[in-house]
Amino acid sequence: MTEIRTPRLLLRRWYDDDLAPLSDINADPAVMRWIGDGSVRDLDATAEEIERWEEEWDDEGFGVFAVELLASGELAGAVGLSVPEYLPELMPAVAVDWRFGTPFWGQGYASEAAHATLEFALQDRGLDRVISVDRPQNQASLNVVRKLGMEPERTIEHPEYGFPLSVHAIDLTEFQA
Ligand SMILES: CC(C)(COP(=O)(O)OP(=O)(O)OC[C@H]1O[C@@H](n2cnc3c(N)ncnc32)[C@H](O)[C@@H]1OP(=O)(O)O)[C@@H](O)C(=O)NCCC(=O)NCCS
Repeated sequence: MTEIRTPRLLLRRWYDDDLAPLSDINADPAVMRWIGDGSVRDLDATAEEIERWEEEWDDEGFGVFAVELLASGELAGAVGLSVPEYLPELMPAVAVDWRFGTPFWGQGYASEAAHATLEFALQDRGLDRVISVDRPQNQASLNVVRKLGMEPERTIEHPEYGFPLSVHAIDLTEFQA
């Protein structure tokens, strides 16, 4: 079972008890504003998402972690790796993504979890390159991208929704773990 501990966080696979708190996060328009078409997700859609992430763990040997606060055991959000199959022009690629509940913003948790995820990508999975795909308006996410040392690569168009997406990448062989 893959688990990572950082000073304040536990990154782990998903439990049944995560469904309700992740569903609360996914129901918040502020969280979902720049994800997909910006719609919130209900309990069923959240259950499907957890199932998809767990399948990715089984199939690829990496995936999206549940992020738990060590101090309280609360589920704060999700951070991890996925194959962005919805963007064929970027393939082959592995992307890093993050999503936290609003009470957990502004405390450095996303950066702490993302940093540990890049270390995992390099050291455990032997990946040498990871990308991030963001709406250009998503300044909070792009702030994390910059702090990780990811470099701007190109802008593409979302194949389904038509809006622009900023692509950043990092060469993990030069990543300062
Ligand atoms: C994107 C997102 C994860 C960023 O979260 P965040 O909390 O702003 O990111 P960070 O973890 O980097 O924390 C940011 C701030 O916490 C503050 N902070 C407080 N305590 C800190 C600590 N101990 N260590 C580091 N930063 C700390 C810092 O001021 C930092 O801001 P700065 O980088 O300007 O200095 C969050 O906005 C989110 O979940 N958005 C919705 C989902 C989304 O859009 N995901 C991306 C698209 S897939």
